[in-house]
Amino acid sequence: MKSLLILAHPNLDESIANKRIAEQLVNQVEEFEVRDIMSLYPDFRINVEAEQTALQEADTIIFQYPFWWYNMPAILKQWFDDVFAFNFAFGPEGDKLKGKNFILSFTVGGPADSYSPLGYNHFKIEDFTKPMEQTAYLAQMNYLPPVFQHGMVYIPGVYNTKEAVEERADKQVQTLVNMITKMQSNNPENTIKAFAKEWFAHFDVLADDGYFNNYIANGAKLQFVEGEFIGHEGFSEWYAGIKSTIKPNNEHRIESINIVANNGHFEVDLSVKMKAETIAGELMQLNVKENWKVEITRDGRVKILEYIVKPV
Ligand SMILES: Cc1cc2nc3c(=O)[nH]c(=O)nc-3n(C[C@H](O)[C@H](O)[C@H](O)COP(=O)(O)O)c2cc1C
Repeated sequence: MKSLLILAHPNLDESIANKRIAEQLVNQVEEFEVRDIMSLYPDFRINVEAEQTALQEADTIIFQYPFWWYNMPAILKQWFDDVFAFNFAFGPEGDKLKGKNFILSFTVGGPADSYSPLGYNHFKIEDFTKPMEQTAYLAQMNYLPPVFQHGMVYIPGVYNTKEAVEERADKQVQTLVNMITKMQSNNPENTIKAFAKEWFAHFDVLADDGYFNNYIANGAKLQFVEGEFIGHEGFSEWYAGIKSTIKPNNEHRIESINIVANNGHFEVDLSVKMKAETIAGELMQLNVKENWKVEITRDGRVKILEYIVKPV
């Protein structure tokens, strides 16, 4: 699972907090890319294609910046204005970011108690991040709670110590690392692989068709060696035929599985070796290629939208 950090600090050389957070994340997270957009685009002319490519290759996108005037620095706003374009992030074909995780990670100068109705900043931090939350929703992304720490300004001899700011930056890193680790364990690829194993184990014992239909979408296209069937009824019809032909305790071995995300669903290509004995006592050996189109539901389950089996 790849993570991308869009680092937006207008003066990184003088940064304590954001610089430290970016450096530590690189050391602690695998498959982690940082794009320091201020040094990439000091003239504010964003290379939209390069940015969109980087976004498409990532599963999780973290926006890392100092909280400036209750908002993001101008370079990041420019980046959004250019990169979250029509038919990329929104519009009839604008689903290129669908399902990707969206995390705002910023450092706040003011103390926590100032961000309350009676404090001098009046509003909660989450009130200031609403436009970004809606941006993520419009792009069909998975908006996660923003990650931030207060009291991140260090003014020598006046406000804070450098050590205290660094300690809080490390806490912010830890929160992000924990979020990424948790998402990695919920990684759709792992979910689909585990599902495929379970699915074929149920075929081995010729489980009740209720198990299989649980994972088949209503109206799903099912193309088996025996012909084409549709949805739950179609599956049950085909499966009754199989059950009357072969004995339980057969074997399905997954030789290879390849999963590609495609606009909110997944294309799964499998090679499966099957050994079975027919009711008549004949031994059957079959190699098949299967192409599945699946989605992961909100509660994290696999749903089969299309199931195509081809003998090889
Ligand atoms: C131009 C500017 C605007 C700022 N606006 C805010 C603000 O609205 N609220 C706040 O709490 N801190 C504000 N700060 C403080 C920054 O949030 C703080 O300096 C930054 O998070 C420290 O991170 P760094 O060490 O990476 O620069 C502002 C600082 C600057 C320079």
